[in-house]
Amino acid sequence: MINKVFDQEYLRDPHGVYAHLRREQPVAHTITSQGVRVWLVTRYEDVRAALNDPRLSKDFHRNPHVMKDNEMEGGDSSGAAAVVPDNMLFSDPPDHERLRRLVVKAFTAGRVRAMRPRIEELSTGLLDGLGGEFDLIKEYAVQLPAMVVGELLGIPEPDWPKVIRWSNTTIEGSALDPGEVVAAAQATIAYLGELCAAKRDNPGDDLISAMVQAHDDSSRMTASELVSTSWLLLVAGHETTVHLIANGMLALLSRPDQFAALRADPALVPQAVEEFLRFDGPISTSTYRFTTEPVTIGGTDIPAGALVLVSLLSANRDAGQYERADELDVTRDPGQHLAFGHGIHYCLGAPLARVEGEIAFRHLLERFPDLELASADLTWRPGMLMHGLERLPVRTGSP
Ligand code: HEM
Repeated sequence: MINKVFDQEYLRDPHGVYAHLRREQPVAHTITSQGVRVWLVTRYEDVRAALNDPRLSKDFHRNPHVMKDNEMEGGDSSGAAAVVPDNMLFSDPPDHERLRRLVVKAFTAGRVRAMRPRIEELSTGLLDGLGGEFDLIKEYAVQLPAMVVGELLGIPEPDWPKVIRWSNTTIEGSALDPGEVVAAAQATIAYLGELCAAKRDNPGDDLISAMVQAHDDSSRMTASELVSTSWLLLVAGHETTVHLIANGMLALLSRPDQFAALRADPALVPQAVEEFLRFDGPISTSTYRFTTEPVTIGGTDIPAGALVLVSLLSANRDAGQYERADELDVTRDPGQHLAFGHGIHYCLGAPLARVEGEIAFRHLLERFPDLELASADLTWRPGMLMHGLERLPVRTGSP
């Protein structure tokens, strides 16, 4: 019998469900809410090993049948990956290396450093308008990463709201009507196609222009790969960072001693960001992988052609890896947490996400030292990919 893991109980208490699986069934054969059969890996060592295993492929482009083969009756997995497959996240070596190398050339440490003052400015502008009681997600945590990714890619400011709306629909894919997800992905792709063409004629000082040039100089990225890569940066760079800010603030607001410790020593903020990522990171399970041959993970045999999901959220709470794994401790060094993944697909945007997180937490603590939760009624968003709240109602003493 295959049990459903991603059910109502998971929505209410994902950490409780994962703790049970790590103990009882660390590599579980289960079905997703979309009716797809998967093997779900939950222990730290197994997750890390699986993310490093070249026998687990991400290239559904060349193996479109794998998804279909694993669908239960009534399942439907057709989603964004099917519309925009030509990017590094859905590729294996050698394509993966070629596609990632080209982006790394354009998305440099210097580019991230140069964005710092602008991120500070955008954050300050948002906070200037806030006080009293408000939803921290709607008014701040969604806004800042959306603005930053818009700036990074060179999307004209008036288009930001529309593009971000499409991106959110794509990310919520596992909880929505698949037709809606595909339509949103197609609209984004059409928009980005025009934007890439415009940047070719009229380059700016942005990442898409830099990628267009890298593409033209070397002819190593096709036009479709360029658009698909821009799409990936947009989608991967947005909602993840929203939940880093919101989940981290929730963790602090629920633990006054940790809030006070961080306020007393703001130099701890960069390290605290790593602890927020470990303790309650934005991604529950990684994107799908499939076995190209039979593999054994954590003592469990998995046949060829099977889908595998690894849970980053679960791995980071594994008591075999962390002492007091279920406690938030802003003074701890969480070492090699897996919130940004591991291996060749390790998050390319991690340096930018870290800068955004550091600025957001520093600013929020400075500006609102008396911030508190305005409601205990909190709901996690449905879906097994992202781990984030619907709303985070907060209150501050200042009007
Ligand atoms: C890949 C997490 C922010 C761009 C990944 C992966 C994870 C991740 C777990 C690997 C997925 C897998 O192996 O299945 C996060 C988190 C973020 C964040 C937790 C924020 C806190 C960003 C930002 C950008 C970005 C800001 C860019 C603007 C990417 C890209 C990949 C990726 C391009 C694909 C890398 C590859 O396939 O080689 N991210 N991400 N991410 N991320 Fe992020």
